[in-house]
Amino acid sequence: MTLQEQIDTNKLPQHLAIIMDGNGRWAKQKGLFRSMGHENGTKAVREIVEASAEINIPFLTLYAFSTENWNRPKLEVELLMKLLVSSLKKEIKTLQDNNIKLNAIGNLEALPKRAKMELKDVIDQTKENDRMTLTLALSYGSREEITKTIREISVKVKNNLISPENIDETVINNHLYTQNLPDVDLLIRTSGEQRISNFLLWQIAYAELYFTDTLWPDYTKNHLFEAILNYQNRERRFGKTSEQL
Ligand code: IPE
Ligand code: IPE
Ligand code: MG
Repeated sequence: MTLQEQIDTNKLPQHLAIIMDGNGRWAKQKGLFRSMGHENGTKAVREIVEASAEINIPFLTLYAFSTENWNRPKLEVELLMKLLVSSLKKEIKTLQDNNIKLNAIGNLEALPKRAKMELKDVIDQTKENDRMTLTLALSYGSREEITKTIREISVKVKNNLISPENIDETVINNHLYTQNLPDVDLLIRTSGEQRISNFLLWQIAYAELYFTDTLWPDYTKNHLFEAILNYQNRERRFGKTSEQL
């Protein structure tokens, strides 16, 4: 049986999130510029997006650019933004062919105008697609998101639109960038780093974490299927005992 055939379609993660890391090290190992790592990383994005749709994962969220990534050298930031624009232009066909809806989370206002326009265009063109929602986290930072949420709710309290005793987890969820997404079930990080780097802190409260040494440009379908099989062998107890499940 192939890895894909071993996957239990009734136990798929509903929301898979990936920290795509290791582009720079991949390039360095090959004696190439970091930019080549990022370019090859986009090939892995396409493969993983298609594979996720193929096995019917409803929500896939990819960490593409963090609020902290703005602190990288100016040239690298510019290159990443250019790559975003060219990938959106190129991959609109992949999204349409696979019936995938594009979504974005993060402080999108901070993106360059071209990137904002292209993003808006692809989101608009794919809005009726319903096989899978692909969310790109761009200029995303969980602390920024939570800060924004607190600010927005505070304004509502001040204007008597909501009372403090009515603030519950649902209200908070409804003010996050991820308001239309379910909680993350499985979080994968490539490249051997074992940290969260300000990604979806609230939303991964009960996610299963999976770390792999594979660098993002080398990440293939079969690596993804291995991660999903590993996830399917875990017991998610949500605080209960094994016997209660
Ligand atoms: C991930 O690869 C891509 C982004 C963060 C934009 P890196 O560029 O972080 O690669 P490493 O960690 O330097 O290898
Ligand atoms: C996290 O990767 C952000 C993305 C993958 C977009 P980084 O490579 O920026 O994370 P740190 O700084 O090493 O934690
Ligand atoms: Mg990195």
